[in-house]
Amino acid sequence: MKISRRKFLKGAAIGTAAAAGVGFWQLGEVDRLRVRHQTLTLPRWDANGLRVALLTDLHVDQDAAEVLALRAIELAAQEKPDLILVSGDTISRHYQKTPQHITTVMGRLRDTGIPCYQVLGNHEYWAFRAHEVVAYLQASPVPLLRNEVQEIEGINLWGVDDALMNRWRPDSLPRKYDRNVLAMLHEPDPADDLQGSPSLVLSGHSHGGQVCLPGQISFHTPKGARRYIRGFYPSAPNPLFVSCGVGTTGPRVRAFCPPEINILTLNG
Ligand SMILES: [Fe+2]
Repeated sequence: MKISRRKFLKGAAIGTAAAAGVGFWQLGEVDRLRVRHQTLTLPRWDANGLRVALLTDLHVDQDAAEVLALRAIELAAQEKPDLILVSGDTISRHYQKTPQHITTVMGRLRDTGIPCYQVLGNHEYWAFRAHEVVAYLQASPVPLLRNEVQEIEGINLWGVDDALMNRWRPDSLPRKYDRNVLAMLHEPDPADDLQGSPSLVLSGHSHGGQVCLPGQISFHTPKGARRYIRGFYPSAPNPLFVSCGVGTTGPRVRAFCPPEINILTLNG
């Protein structure tokens, strides 16, 4: 079949425009937050049916990011989970509005009436005058766990401080906690080196690649998230779940990797 030059050019133009449209639409998915429900089967776990909302990498570093974070909290609360866990990188940088962002976000978490806990990520330590950022988070109404265990809802929540910045203590789980241990550690790759026997480690940091190829194929993830990028890894040395997170770093762009909050039902 012969196609005229004019028809060919017209087809090519339509194809290019469609591809550009899909590309732009994908780049705009930074705000297309989705709620993902998964049921995980864990070793050494008796608290069957416990439901956890995982919010990570909020990266609240501008007003638009705060709006997204507040929507994530609202969606998480609507699910009525037993716990809301915030797994680090709540901020990206320290600027004039950072204390206000932290007050607003942590206040909203408290107002859900659901028990909430948090750990630190690398960005809290990278920020300008990091000690002030850590102090704001420490003073917030959401308890900050730093290499310590909180017993709650029949489980042992082990908050591990940041591994990339070497603030973690991978041996900080007391021996008596040998069942029902839910660990929070911002970076997923170091989870293999946690000592003791966590039933599950909850991480973020990877952003799932943030800007991916179709099919959520990632071509770049940060140090600390090269082995484990997204989803559940039941066969890892310590069973691990990695969230694609809510926020972004660098340009406020995501492609083929929408922001997510994770509602995890945990069974033994
Ligand atoms: Fe991170």
